[in-house]
Amino acid sequence: MRNLNNLDWSISKFDKVNQDKRWYEFKISIMEQSVWFVMMLCPQVVIYLILYNSIDWIKAGTISIGTVWMFIQYIHLAVQPLVMISEQIRELQRAFGAGDKIFEILDTEPEVKETDRPVKVDGFMHRIEFKNVSFHYESEKPVLKNISFTIEKGSSVAIVGATGSGKTTIISLLTRFYDPVEGSITIDGVDLRDMDMKELRSMMSLVLQDIFLFPGDIMDNLRVLRKDIPEEKVIEASKKMGIYNYLSDFPQGFKTVLSEDGGNLSFGERQLLSFSRALTFEPEILIMDEATSSIDPYTEAEIQRSMEKLLKGRTSIIIAHRLSTIEEADKIIVLDRGELVEQGSHDELINLKGLYANLYWTQTGIAKRD
Ligand SMILES: Nc1ncnc2c1ncn2[C@@H]1O[C@H](COP(=O)(O)OP(=O)(O)O)[C@@H](O)[C@H]1O
Ligand SMILES: [Mg+2]
Repeated sequence: MRNLNNLDWSISKFDKVNQDKRWYEFKISIMEQSVWFVMMLCPQVVIYLILYNSIDWIKAGTISIGTVWMFIQYIHLAVQPLVMISEQIRELQRAFGAGDKIFEILDTEPEVKETDRPVKVDGFMHRIEFKNVSFHYESEKPVLKNISFTIEKGSSVAIVGATGSGKTTIISLLTRFYDPVEGSITIDGVDLRDMDMKELRSMMSLVLQDIFLFPGDIMDNLRVLRKDIPEEKVIEASKKMGIYNYLSDFPQGFKTVLSEDGGNLSFGERQLLSFSRALTFEPEILIMDEATSSIDPYTEAEIQRSMEKLLKGRTSIIIAHRLSTIEEADKIIVLDRGELVEQGSHDELINLKGLYANLYWTQTGIAKRD
């Protein structure tokens, strides 16, 4: 299940762009037709004038009919290349327009700049730290406001907050799809901006709401086409996730080709597949963004068990709606419209009787105790 809100939004935006395009095309074609009309009309008018005037001259015997006829033929000959040139100019302008677009794309600055001299890091040893991080996508519209927190190696951190509170943005900053506008994010004291991007991203596995499938068989999908990952490792991960038997039962086992949209798998199965893929990579840091949002309660129990295995002893950041997934986290971070309003363990936050406690009481239906 993809994010349908986003889909609606994209479709309406696409419609708008299309309508604009249609209107521009219409205007351009009107202009083109007008120019064409004038260009074709001009020689006809000239011919008409010549004929009109030459009647008297022919009568007077000044010129012969043959001369007039020749004259008209010359006009046709002269006009033809002009028409062709104008057509070529139009084509050229189109080519220039397309060229501009190509250069525009080539000149687009990436959101983040890769450093020329990356600091050498030796894996992930101690902690991730967000320090006074502020961020916005569009100026004047702050998305994260002065956020500070740490994630110790081996611990799990859950981020909770309403839709739009900035949870995914925190992940986008940590995976360096954007850089903070203010403040810094460091891993073992090294600013992400000073790290080799590939090295940074190879530390992390990101599990999203829906698994992205490649055209290919199960094996290749689990190792994301990385042939250098041995098959044994993929199989071991699938055993840990409890889907080995299930996958072996497929007609061609791990060599079964999946349809690209995964239509031959249930949602829970795809979820397990995506966990198994994450485990195959044995990431230092595991990130899950609403990976369990659209799972039915029956599958959830199964997924919950797999998730525990996946998370065990691993540095992890989990964004989830269901508080049951979050309760176990070592630290819970509560966001409210881009501000970090509470952080602590489940018990600490319940005792605080703040936003998290209210959320918990509302969701679980457990009566508030004073
Ligand atoms: N690429 C983007 N460009 C502009 N605004 C964005 C973009 N992504 C998210 N936002 C806005 O930033 C805010 C936080 O979004 P997000 O981090 O996705 O929240 P959450 O994951 O908590 O639902 C929202 O107001 C959202 O509309
Ligand atoms: Mg989000």
